Amino acid sequence: MKKNILIVSGSPRKKGNTMAMARILEEKMADMEPDLAFEYLYLVDRDLKYCLGCMNCLKRGGQHCPIKDDAGLILTALKKADGLVFLSPGYAHQVSAMFKNFLDRFMYLAHLPELVGVPTVVIGTAGYDGAGKIPRYIADWNLAWWGCDVVARLGFAHVVFTLNGNYRRKAIGMIEVAARDFIEAMKRKHPPRPSLRQYFYFLFNRMETEFCESGMPARYGFWKDRGWLESDYYYDTKVGLTKKVLGRAMLRLIESRAKKDLGRDYRERLKDYY
Ligand SMILES: Cc1cc2nc3c(=O)[nH]c(=O)nc-3n(C[C@H](O)[C@H](O)[C@H](O)COP(=O)(O)O)c2cc1C
Repeated sequence: MKKNILIVSGSPRKKGNTMAMARILEEKMADMEPDLAFEYLYLVDRDLKYCLGCMNCLKRGGQHCPIKDDAGLILTALKKADGLVFLSPGYAHQVSAMFKNFLDRFMYLAHLPELVGVPTVVIGTAGYDGAGKIPRYIADWNLAWWGCDVVARLGFAHVVFTLNGNYRRKAIGMIEVAARDFIEAMKRKHPPRPSLRQYFYFLFNRMETEFCESGMPARYGFWKDRGWLESDYYYDTKVGLTKKVLGRAMLRLIESRAKKDLGRDYRERLKDYY
């Protein structure tokens, strides 16, 4: 069956440097696997207003966001895809404002994760400096919370890509590897085991959700309905013993900091806070 790949671009330039990388990925994938459909979602064409910070998405659910714009359509497209590609140019050593706004508006997917296990590739470009930070920020600080299966995080310095043949060949080789891994991930029947980072985020997310039972009922209900308040992870998978020990030790560190900052009754105080 055809696999649908949605490419979300946070560059205002549809024929710019970041899109050129996405086109290479598309070409490589199409060569390897004919049964793929690619759809491009250019944020520059969408009406996506700034987040108002009301937290309605976590308190009442994403559909209760008071902003009337294209967020619902974008969510539908994200949920329909078998694989996702996120693109952003580096602007002032960060993602573009357009892409940041996209992350803000869909922040609730970190706490009401609807894209768990979806294979994902992230590509960032910068002129020269800091290209690697862009995909790391998107993948490690956002998509890992969303529970996506990030198969590649690629960052390229466009000046070097254009002027240095060795760099360009290496970059194209990396895109080719990503294309293969991405196709394999989409064909997999079950999502992979979580990394330590993903597992820790799950534990932290669950602990925070427990504090929110009355303050953010949509979030609490979302977790409860899926059995995630009792499960080992978002989906049926084996979490190895070492990962369990390390993940829980990291959580205890956070808890001991909370005890120090908020007092021994930090759990009750956080429940009141939320
Ligand atoms: C507003 C703005 C800020 C930028 N900031 C940086 C930067 O901090 N570091 C860098 O190396 N390149 C920077 N660049 C260059 C872009 O990251 C680079 O050209 C990128 O590949 C553009 O992608 P695009 O063609 O997809 O828009 C900046 C470009 C713009 C327009």
